[in-house]
Amino acid sequence: MAEFSTIYKLSIIAVIGFIQACSCTCPVMECWFVQEKAGRGGGLTGATTQEKSLLHIRTDAHSETAETQRAPADINPSRVYVITDPAATLCHPSLNPPRGSIKKPQCEINPFLPQPSSLKWVASLTESALSPIYLQADWFSGSFQGLDEQLGVSTISRAPSGTKEHDVILSITSKTMSAKSRLGDPVTLDCSFWVDQSNPLSSSGFAVEWRYQTRGDGRLVLAYDGKMDRLADTHEQGASLDFEALHERGNASLLLEEAKVRHSGTYICTVYLPYLLAQVTMDLQIIEPPSLSIHPSPLPLAVPGQTLNVQCEASGFAPLPLELNWEFKGADGKSRSLGSGSVSGHRQAWDGTYSQSTRLELDTSKLDLGRGGEVTCVAVHAGGTRRASVTLNVIGFSSPSIEDSMAMVGVALVLYGLIKFVSWTFTGSEGKVKMAEVD
Ligand SMILES: *[C@@H]1O[C@H](CO)[C@@H](O)[C@H](O)[C@H]1NC(C)=O
Repeated sequence: MAEFSTIYKLSIIAVIGFIQACSCTCPVMECWFVQEKAGRGGGLTGATTQEKSLLHIRTDAHSETAETQRAPADINPSRVYVITDPAATLCHPSLNPPRGSIKKPQCEINPFLPQPSSLKWVASLTESALSPIYLQADWFSGSFQGLDEQLGVSTISRAPSGTKEHDVILSITSKTMSAKSRLGDPVTLDCSFWVDQSNPLSSSGFAVEWRYQTRGDGRLVLAYDGKMDRLADTHEQGASLDFEALHERGNASLLLEEAKVRHSGTYICTVYLPYLLAQVTMDLQIIEPPSLSIHPSPLPLAVPGQTLNVQCEASGFAPLPLELNWEFKGADGKSRSLGSGSVSGHRQAWDGTYSQSTRLELDTSKLDLGRGGEVTCVAVHAGGTRRASVTLNVIGFSSPSIEDSMAMVGVALVLYGLIKFVSWTFTGSEGKVKMAEVD
């Protein structure tokens, strides 16, 4: 019994040790250091250089863990940095793949120049002061994307001039880098930020801005001045923030009441501190599969050799494209393709959804449809596959069925009666004529 409890205790200690070891493994990340080419002014704007760099991440300025690792030979030692991130945002497992993984998280750092913003909802943050001396340092912005393609982190970090030890001052995280929603559902685009409370800028408040940007179409969705507690006027309806969560936990997630097709696109969440800003960019896709209907339904009875036109209408879907096909399942239960038919162009409805149709010529003599079966319209869409079916009945095909035989007997009887009747009236009247002649 004593031995058992010892083993038990040991294993608990091992488990606790394991958990601790996990929670404090922060990555050593390879990263692109990108900056504008020196000697600007004239020449091409936007020319940049990129160099490989290495970031040792730690949560505590006093821990030495990271630095024991040697930098790879292709990295200039002057581009090796130590970054202290007390919130451990950069220690997320998605940014820290197991050693030797081929897939690596994406990472880029750039020099950052703190400056006041003149945006209406940000200006209040810097209205009082001259630039504080605190700003005289080396500043970087960093952007990181996790392996799962859902986590995105941006940071603003500061190092005393000339040193390589950076402290994260502001970090902003999204867990919905590529979000998807059905039409009409509520949508949450995740965006949270963390501010180092010991930095002198943090007491002056923050501002949050959500912007929509897609193919030349840009608009302000929402802007909030957290210092003045003031929301800017925008024309966007049904978009909001949870202000309590924002002030208490830095949760600046955008809540869309009801997903519409026009909501598809790129969103930028920007968090401002005085002189600083960080942003994450995420994509929202509104995906709605089509509803299908077949005309005519039910299909009229067909006789061999007849051609029936069947139409399948797919409506209310987004985005393009849609793939339409026809299938046939005969009496043997086997399905085969009848091709795509004549597919129409797509039309867009007032709500942004699309519709498209396909017409199939069912030539009963050519398609080997037997006595009929099930004709199915199949629509393959990013939101899922949809099907609609009608029953096809071909009458009088090869060996006649009982109904067909009875119909034939009926027709024969009617014909027989008709002939009898005609011949009776004819011979009858002839007789009368003959009698008249006799008279
Ligand atoms: C922020 O709030 C939204 C809903 O209001 C929630 O879905 C999301 O998980 C929150 N994010 C964090 C990091 O707590």
